[in-house]
Amino acid sequence: MQARADDAPFWRSMLFVPVNVPKYVAKAHERGADAIILDLEDSIAPADKAAARTMVADAATVVSRGGADVVVRINRPIELAVRDIEAVVSAEVRALMLPKIDSAGHLRLLTELVDAVEAQKGVARGHTRFIAMVETAAGFRYIWEIAEATPRNVALTLGGEDFASDIGGEPDPEVLLYPKQQCVLAARAAGITPMGTIGSVANFQDVEGYRASIKRSRRFGFEGSACIHPSIVPLLNEGFTPSATEVDTAERMIAAYEKAYAEGRGSVTFDGKMIDVPIVERAQRVVDRARRIAARMGGR
Ligand code: COA
Ligand code: MG
Repeated sequence: MQARADDAPFWRSMLFVPVNVPKYVAKAHERGADAIILDLEDSIAPADKAAARTMVADAATVVSRGGADVVVRINRPIELAVRDIEAVVSAEVRALMLPKIDSAGHLRLLTELVDAVEAQKGVARGHTRFIAMVETAAGFRYIWEIAEATPRNVALTLGGEDFASDIGGEPDPEVLLYPKQQCVLAARAAGITPMGTIGSVANFQDVEGYRASIKRSRRFGFEGSACIHPSIVPLLNEGFTPSATEVDTAERMIAAYEKAYAEGRGSVTFDGKMIDVPIVERAQRVVDRARRIAARMGGR
């Protein structure tokens, strides 16, 4: 099992939906999110964990009606994690979001369990992808190893709220910059997608602040993020989609470079600036991403 390029997630926006709130589940597919995260962890009270787990299969069918991928966030305590994994692994669940990962070994043990459950349930081996969450100082120490611990990993995220609590700090952009930036670097080094924004998911009523935070996060290399309220979904979709102007500039730049290259030159001036290989590679990335998003939307 090896992750392929076309397995890379497309999740500009992932909406957290507490799985045991029927009115959230019922309309989640109308919110425009690329993925829905059915949550079994922080948004579910301890006494409701067992019942919530049994609601995932039906909820997965409901929330995916608009074409969104279904992700399930499981619990960290091992006795809950095992039950969650046994209950939710299925063809309908594209990935598991794994909270409070603190080492590569932790992720490998979960991999072993998922291997076994997929086999028992007749789910294709490797179908269930992982989004690893680093949320503690202890886990942060191993973030590079965590990112590359298993080929099931498709994305890495740093859970700002829990991380801030764990270090005795506040989840503001200044405090989170360093760990979030390490998250981007570790994910890229492992060839997986960095997800998140450099800020708190809790500030959902500050629309302009959120918009600016998304823009900044994309600049640092993030490709998408989870959110807790449907009003943020359009901001994420817009913020993590290259604009028409960006795509146009990128296409013209690539054309100018290709023309120069054909004439035997490795760098050329475009719109008053020098362009060479890394600049053109970034432009190509913009064009590729815009095409993938368009293809994905066409499939809806
Ligand atoms: N998923 C789906 N629908 C949601 C939603 C969510 N996470 N949060 C709100 N909605 C819906 C509401 O049902 C309402 O729908 P309606 O207008 O069709 O009736 C609409 O969005 C507006 O909701 P609003 O009244 O603004 O929100 P609220 O005050 O009811 O709830 C929160 C606010 C933060 C409690 C709620 O958004 C929530 O529980 N979010 C998820 C929290 C979570 O998952 N935390 C763990 C991850 S960190
Ligand atoms: Mg948490």
